[in-house]
Amino acid sequence: MPSSFLSKLSSARSVFTFRDFILLPGRSEVEPSGIDLSSRLTKRIKVRVPLVSSPMDTVTEWRLALEMAKLGGAGAIHRNMPIDDQVSQAKKVKAARVDALSTDEKGRPLVGASVSPLDRERCLALDKTVDFLVADVAHFHTSKVMDAARKVIPDLSADFIVGNIGTQKAVFDIVDELPRVDGFRAGIGSGSICITSEVTRVGAPTLFAVAEVASALEERRLEIPVIADGGIRGPGDAALAFAAGASTAMLGSMLAGTDEAPSKTIVRGGRKFKTHRGMASAAARRVRFAIDRYSVPAKGLDEGVEAYVPYVGKAEGVVAMMENGLKAAFGYAGAAGVGDMWKKATFGSVSAVGSTELGSHSLEIKK
Ligand code: XMP
Repeated sequence: MPSSFLSKLSSARSVFTFRDFILLPGRSEVEPSGIDLSSRLTKRIKVRVPLVSSPMDTVTEWRLALEMAKLGGAGAIHRNMPIDDQVSQAKKVKAARVDALSTDEKGRPLVGASVSPLDRERCLALDKTVDFLVADVAHFHTSKVMDAARKVIPDLSADFIVGNIGTQKAVFDIVDELPRVDGFRAGIGSGSICITSEVTRVGAPTLFAVAEVASALEERRLEIPVIADGGIRGPGDAALAFAAGASTAMLGSMLAGTDEAPSKTIVRGGRKFKTHRGMASAAARRVRFAIDRYSVPAKGLDEGVEAYVPYVGKAEGVVAMMENGLKAAFGYAGAAGVGDMWKKATFGSVSAVGSTELGSHSLEIKK
């Protein structure tokens, strides 16, 4: 008997994170300016910029969702508010008279909202207004959640993104049991404010989760776009995610410090900050339990922290920096677009010791 337990350890799979890899340079046929970053958010929704703002209560309300649509990406309005408020916020985005690069077929700005499949009332209320609903569940691969999704999806006309998941088995079970899946949100435990893996020692880091989900979809010959969600600190991490099979990248902390994010700007030690918190942090959970009768404190466990992020100005600046960085990364990797990244980009693995050589080193940085 003990040998079977030992073999669990000896047959453990390697779980890769963004810090474990770089992309190898590949023969390039295009200049960075000629690279096309357009991609699919869901089976039906195309975006010119493959970035989605995370449905967190310190990140995406109507202002950032509208801004992301204007810039060619997309935003999903968080669910830490009463149903009517979330619907009004989505309507506000739809009613805005702006030139948006991401639009619906009527030319109105694209908008999404997060839901729990267990909250049928919220799903149906938002469905009339939004283009996509994104499940906001820490572990979607749960029978109760999947049963609820199976029942509600046939009544929805908006695209339905399933998440979060992080394994091939989750994909197989979900595509077998759900009537329709329009997108996947991959990554468990990598988020900047996540402590799930620290507390429970369970997780599927985003890069690994994306590769698992994309491989399972490839095996089944299903073209369902995958969102890389959690832990993306810059264009390089997003580029790695695309190379591992993602179609878009979801950003939380990178957008929490922008003007369009909901929290107030504060000054600490002469520098400007905004607050950012996990949706499973004690403070965010308190709000949720007060307004959402479907959210029962099943686990009684905080899986997120509350923090400050540096104030970074307009979201436009962050998105432009990401676009430029992604184009540069795609160019080095020899890819003209996201589909090319899937096919052509190759990984190099970095040792823990060697990683110190990959940033600036052996000097003192001028502030
Ligand atoms: P970043 O790193 O972009 O990550 O800030 C955002 C993603 O983190 C997830 N998220 C959480 N994960 N506990 C968690 O374990 C939490 O409290 C929490 N809140 C958000 C979520 O996937 C988000 O998009």
